[in-house]
Amino acid sequence: MTTLADARVIDLPRIERPEGSITPVEGAATVPFGIERVYYLYDVVGGASRGGHAHHELEQLIVAAMGSFSVILDDGNNRQRYDLTRAYHGLYVPAMVWRELVDFTSGAVCIVLASRPYEESDYIRDHAEFVTEKHRRAAG
Ligand code: TYD
Repeated sequence: MTTLADARVIDLPRIERPEGSITPVEGAATVPFGIERVYYLYDVVGGASRGGHAHHELEQLIVAAMGSFSVILDDGNNRQRYDLTRAYHGLYVPAMVWRELVDFTSGAVCIVLASRPYEESDYIRDHAEFVTEKHRRAAG
């Protein structure tokens, strides 16, 4: 059963040159899962929050590639806020952890590396249902 202890900020490689920086992410060498999908959030409206769900199986690495935002993780017992402000920090979010993305700066871009294709059936979008499922798994 995953808890907040399984989440962590991973330091991604940084290649810094006077003319700019590169952060390469090469699968298993950098991320604790096989990358099956990449998507990005942009044009986020001021004050909007994203996420507000958990996944049965999906693992993700969340990166503030441009600007910054915060991610609030919740494992059904505890909550923790991560401020992502650097393009070389990736927040690893295991399966069965509730997440909310808040406080996007103007023009922020969030890149998400994901372990599985998009599957609506993998989402838990109701927080009470999430907590019930956590307790069911913990008991079983
Ligand atoms: P959702 O994951 O709920 O957005 P967020 O957590 O960022 O607020 O997805 C919003 C919509 O986009 C939903 O209708 C499903 C669709 N979607 C895809 O079709 N493919 C994807 O890879 C993702 C992430 C979302």
